Amino acid sequence: MNKNRKMWGGAFTSVPNDLAWSFGQSFRNDLALFDQEIAISIAHAKMLGMCRVIPAAESRRIVSALKAIKPSDLDPASEDIHAAVESALREKVGDAAGKLHTARSRNDQIATATRLWTRAASKRTQARIKKLQSVILALAAKHSDVPMPGYTHQQRAQPITLGYHLLAHFWPLQRDGVRFEQLSEACDSCPLGSGALSGTPFPIDRKLTASELGFSRISPSALDAVSDRDFVGDALHAIATAMQHLARISQELILWSGAEFGFVKLSDAFSTGSSIMPQKRNPDSCELIRGRVGKTVGAWVAFQTMMKALPFAYNRDQQEDKAALFECFKLLDDALELTANILRTAKFHTSKMRAEAGKGFSTATTLADQLAAGGMPFRQAHEIVGKLVLYCEQYGIEISEVPAEHLRKIHSCLDANMLKSTDVMASIASRDSEGGVGPKAFRTQIAKAKALHTKQGFLQNG
Ligand code: ARG
Repeated sequence: MNKNRKMWGGAFTSVPNDLAWSFGQSFRNDLALFDQEIAISIAHAKMLGMCRVIPAAESRRIVSALKAIKPSDLDPASEDIHAAVESALREKVGDAAGKLHTARSRNDQIATATRLWTRAASKRTQARIKKLQSVILALAAKHSDVPMPGYTHQQRAQPITLGYHLLAHFWPLQRDGVRFEQLSEACDSCPLGSGALSGTPFPIDRKLTASELGFSRISPSALDAVSDRDFVGDALHAIATAMQHLARISQELILWSGAEFGFVKLSDAFSTGSSIMPQKRNPDSCELIRGRVGKTVGAWVAFQTMMKALPFAYNRDQQEDKAALFECFKLLDDALELTANILRTAKFHTSKMRAEAGKGFSTATTLADQLAAGGMPFRQAHEIVGKLVLYCEQYGIEISEVPAEHLRKIHSCLDANMLKSTDVMASIASRDSEGGVGPKAFRTQIAKAKALHTKQGFLQNG
């Protein structure tokens, strides 16, 4: 059904302006919805037959013709996927094709197709999240004993382990999984049978089409159902949040792979060279993941701006929801896959991390903790260790190198024995509170993460 033969031309006396027609065409983008469009049409045709809205024989003919339609049968000059499928059906069954549009509208069709597509996409994304989590779990277990500097404000803060650091990235992904599972749930209400906006006079059975299409409920208001795109907003928000998480992993790998850190070497498969500087190995894949977050945030903002102030019910503006939705899901799925492979193939320079872990007075807090554990107010302990750090900075030495006779000069409570707590592994071992870096706490955390990971889905894990 092209510009000269439209599904709605009865009251029109002239054809649309060329630019206006192409400006409004959504066929190419709609092709992503081919499977959903056919499934919806089949479910609707079956139901029309069963409810005797159309003769059973005609329903069967329409259903078998719909099953035979392939994407290549569709006319690319069509206005949208709905018009294209109806035309292709007409080629096969003649005027009976016109009966398929009894008791339905493109408005409830597109709302239903987009929900079906989003539900399937969300499932695919959840599987990729699980896959990335399994890479993280394996790496965290492998590097559970490797000390490294832990940072706040990008300054050395306290020593942690590489395993502990990597495992922390499991949890944002777990929350992403929950968001996508909630998205599937938001898509689980079937608008089909809402008609254009107010229902239909035909004795249809909405529950039948809904269950045929795998929905667990039907939408309660036709007016709301054809207009509701909240699930698209939910999807774009969940995507942008997940991309932001991946960008943070990327940013760490970019930093860590530079000579200033030297903590990791990324595989050549995920790096590129410079056209002028032969020594360069650029972390391009990570940079692009980081760089494309903006696109997903922009898509969410564009979507909300498009929806803002739209009156009930369907408005053509809403056609703008899908291109960004399709593109952003693809972007996130690619980024999840890439991140899993980048991490899996990365070579962590554990000896460099180990060498750096205790530098920059990173165990100073542990010494202050020890004084506080002996009964001193923590504030005072902080002050004393601060003085010790100042002394070390003046002489260019580490805390463990301060001669015993100088220790007492700094404060009478300090003695050489105490400095044992400034050992990196001792400091790490001491932080064994739940969620901490200590070995028992780490074992508990990774066991919890593994248990969640082996369960199906994310939501039911609480
Ligand atoms: N191409 C439209 C969209 O994506 C389909 C629904 C069109 N409905 C209409 N009454 N023009 O939103």
